[in-house]
Amino acid sequence: MRILAIESSCDETAAAIVEDGIKIVSSVVASSKDMHEKYGGIVPEVAAREQLRCIIPTIDEALKDSHNNYQSIDSLAITIGPGLIGSLLVGVETAKTMAMVTKKPIIPVNHVFAHMYANFIDGKKIQFPAISLVVSGGHTELFLMTSPKDLQWLGGTLDDAAGEAFDKTARLLGFGSRGGVAIQENAVKGDLDFKLPRPLMHDGSLNFSFSGLKTAILREWKKHTSNVKQLHTSNIIYKKLIGAFAWEVQEAITDVLVAKTLNAARRYNAKSILLSGGVAANLCLRNKFMMPASPAVRHNSKFMIHVPEVRLCTDNAVYIASYAYFRGKPVDWHEISAVPDLSVEI
Ligand code: KG4
Ligand code: ZN
Repeated sequence: MRILAIESSCDETAAAIVEDGIKIVSSVVASSKDMHEKYGGIVPEVAAREQLRCIIPTIDEALKDSHNNYQSIDSLAITIGPGLIGSLLVGVETAKTMAMVTKKPIIPVNHVFAHMYANFIDGKKIQFPAISLVVSGGHTELFLMTSPKDLQWLGGTLDDAAGEAFDKTARLLGFGSRGGVAIQENAVKGDLDFKLPRPLMHDGSLNFSFSGLKTAILREWKKHTSNVKQLHTSNIIYKKLIGAFAWEVQEAITDVLVAKTLNAARRYNAKSILLSGGVAANLCLRNKFMMPASPAVRHNSKFMIHVPEVRLCTDNAVYIASYAYFRGKPVDWHEISAVPDLSVEI
């Protein structure tokens, strides 16, 4: 079964064709990230306008890449939320129009649930029950998965998402809107005289909180840069400080994510752990779960750890199609609408 999926919930516009939920036939992602650089964050109107401009060429390219036309597509899938209303509307209205014209079935998709299905690509055999951590720019959620169809929400962030903590820190350290990747690339172990808090790490709950961490970073950054702020950013002391801050922030965030996920896995006797979402692209996080020498693996070798390819962690339409195949239900296109605050608590 071939599904053509469309994703436009944030600043990416993506289309993909996936066969039987596991085989990528084509995948195209356009991003307006660079256009937001001068504003210091995503401007929803700019994102939506850009998506309006590139959604048709993106879909065309996905179809062309696959040497296909609409005839070979069995179903459409579309992200209906959560996300930015203007961005979602572009994808949703385009997909509804396609469903009306082509008379293909259309499957509405929850973007956050869909992230975890990036782990199903290439037919990876996942043993259940599995604990699934979805960690992105807007979400940090833990789910129990007892089959590809059965999901139960276990906990999530009480305030900011982990990705947001990465993004805010990146901006503070002078990396603009490059976000978590910039933190990862610049992190160098240093000898800072403080340790950032690991919020809620040992509270026994499966919830997260990252807003206090953000405040702590800001406080320490101000303290440590007050005497070097006259210096140019190329200054070696300043550079080292940036590297050390990036390192410590990355350690703090990933320590919490690993501890909470392992806690959930033990509690629910999980056989597997699935990571997904943009922050799952983070090498430090991946290593903490995957490296044979890491404490997480040494003490928890009974869990099979699954992590999607880096390109499938950040927003794309491949996992939208995969989710639609494994868990989606077609509905009449008249009944589909964008839901910016679509809940993830099931
Ligand atoms: O899943 P995603 O592409 O979009 C949302 O659904 O939000 O996730 C974007 C988030 C951003 O916060 C970005 O900074 C973060 O994923 N991210 C990373 C890395 N790559 C992307 N965070 C840490 N390390 C990375 N390598
Ligand atoms: Zn996402």
